[in-house]
Amino acid sequence: MENKKYYITTPIYYPSDNLHIGHTYCTVAADALARFKRLCGYDVWFLTGTDEHGLKIEKKAREKGVTPKEYVDEIVSGIKDLWKLMNISNDDFIRTTDERHVKAVQKIFKKLYDNGDIYKSEYEGWYCTPCESFWLDRQLVDGKCPDCGRPVQKTKEESYFFRLSKYADRLIEYINSHPDFIQPVSRKNEMLQNFLLPGLEDLCVSRTSFKWGIPVTFDDKHIVYVWVDALSNYITALGYLSDDDSKFKKFWPADLHLVGKEIVRFHTIIWPIMLMALDLPLPKQVFGHGWITFDGDKMSKSKGNVVDPVVLAERYGVDALRYFLLREMPLGSDANFSNELLIKRINSDLANDLGNLLSRTVSMIDKYFGSVIAGDLCPAPEDDDLKAMGSTLHEKVTVDLDALKFNEALSEIWQYVGALNKYIDITAPWKLSKDEANRDRLASVMYNLAEGLRIVGVLITPFLPETSLKIKEQLGITDDALYSWDSVLSYGALKAGTEVRKGDPLFPRIDIAKELEYLEKILEENIAKAKANLASSEEKEEPVSQITIDDFMKVKLITGKVIACEEIKNSKKLLKVTVDAGEESPRTVCAGIKEYYSPTDLVGRTVVIVSNLKPAKLAGIMSEGMLLAAGDGDLVSLLSTDKDVPAGTPVH
Ligand code: ME8
Ligand code: MG
Repeated sequence: MENKKYYITTPIYYPSDNLHIGHTYCTVAADALARFKRLCGYDVWFLTGTDEHGLKIEKKAREKGVTPKEYVDEIVSGIKDLWKLMNISNDDFIRTTDERHVKAVQKIFKKLYDNGDIYKSEYEGWYCTPCESFWLDRQLVDGKCPDCGRPVQKTKEESYFFRLSKYADRLIEYINSHPDFIQPVSRKNEMLQNFLLPGLEDLCVSRTSFKWGIPVTFDDKHIVYVWVDALSNYITALGYLSDDDSKFKKFWPADLHLVGKEIVRFHTIIWPIMLMALDLPLPKQVFGHGWITFDGDKMSKSKGNVVDPVVLAERYGVDALRYFLLREMPLGSDANFSNELLIKRINSDLANDLGNLLSRTVSMIDKYFGSVIAGDLCPAPEDDDLKAMGSTLHEKVTVDLDALKFNEALSEIWQYVGALNKYIDITAPWKLSKDEANRDRLASVMYNLAEGLRIVGVLITPFLPETSLKIKEQLGITDDALYSWDSVLSYGALKAGTEVRKGDPLFPRIDIAKELEYLEKILEENIAKAKANLASSEEKEEPVSQITIDDFMKVKLITGKVIACEEIKNSKKLLKVTVDAGEESPRTVCAGIKEYYSPTDLVGRTVVIVSNLKPAKLAGIMSEGMLLAAGDGDLVSLLSTDKDVPAGTPVH
């Protein structure tokens, strides 16, 4: 028999803030697929995790006064709770701070270096400090940052480079000969047109200017570039290059990397080239899904319009939220989230269509047949369409799910639910029940409803696992074989004599007006909070004679090492000082100390800088911060530390 294995992954999430509904969307979609494949008899491995290194995390931790590991530990534990709440059936959870990952990434880096695909060189480019991005000469717009239009600084670093360029032709050839590799097709064209065909530059894959990353074993000033670190998770989690690589042998290559559209580029250029250089097979598919927007606007923490999945799942049920996410949004395109849409879907599709169908069916079987399903005793032509629909649903849903069309699969299932409801109206069981002569016919009507619900119950399992079980219980099905995925391949497996059990409504109806008011209030509060945060960060405080500790903590003092210094020709007072402050690239600070220090005095010194001072132009040069010094007039002395501390150490 063919080895039926299926390896599916989500991106590993940045634990820099709590996750929102957009992240939940991707994970729920991957979960539905993993469940579907398990039901089809595949040996499934479903991986998710967290991407914990990088300058952003290092900075956030520093702001909070904790270590980066302490900072991520707390958020990661919240992420794990969220996946538990959402009923995510992942087989493993990888953290890039796991020992197993760190060790394997170090081996991967070394292997690429030994093969000559990573080499050491000097990196020269431009750096936009506020955006934290590197740019090449040709990418600048009028010499400024192409993203924000602010000035950029020249930076030079000794770095390791990865030979992307060497593999570009091979990758183009691979993409062209494997049409399923990048999906949807629009993303494939985008990658070819915008990135691959114009030519690839070698990629800078190490950093020396901050510490929170995986050290390069043979040159420990350097840490591994976060994307090389992060992408490797898909194989390190399987034990690649470890003592036990049996999972890797079994599950690699991945069948599907499900990722958001903005990171398709990393997954279809850097990642496949890493794999080629490691002489490993490429994943079968990278699918780039669209984004969830909120009332037409991009969700963002700073705007406050993020939707918290925990609030919604706790209020309306996990399955209701899973249903909405998978029903409403075609996977490849962007889609809008609104509280109103959510509640309407829950009320109409779940509470009304499905919930009522089950409770009516079970109540009628209870009332007319003492809870026992009597069987299809008197079939009639008016049943034929319904039966045909029921017997072809399995195939339709399977085809849709194999094509990642969750919304279409659910739409097919709900068309059948609609037909079952209509069947009640047409057959009017309450009329049939009035005449004993119609008893067998009434039994058939009840049978078709119960069998229809069994089919629905089985086919919604990947999407709504809890609801599926509740339906099974109320239908009184105790034999698991009668509720397996393949048990609905054909119509009519439900056995006469089965005894139904009335239960609670599947989905209580929601009072739309009341709930919308509640949700809008949360939203308004969040937006107001976000605005207040913004305002307070811009607002000028009144001068006060005494300040609180909180006031003082607003001033972020850190140490830095002076790596270069020069006179500013047209200024009497200013020196241009280049300071390594433990960040991705050095800062430029203009200091009014020309009369007291010569540039050569300063290079190599540890200094203390105000790191969160708003950048300002001095003598035509953008100064990012301020050096602390004691005194003025005749005696000026720069502050330093009396022990050697790393650049970027907080001062308080
Ligand atoms: O990018 N709608 O992590 P991340 C839909 N660590 N999807 C959304 C979304 C939204 N509103 N917002 C975010 C990273 N996402 C890297 C990945 S993989 C080796 C490393 C999706 O936490 C986003 O598109 O910023 C991405 O796929 C995922 O959440 C993780 O985003
Ligand atoms: Mg992102």
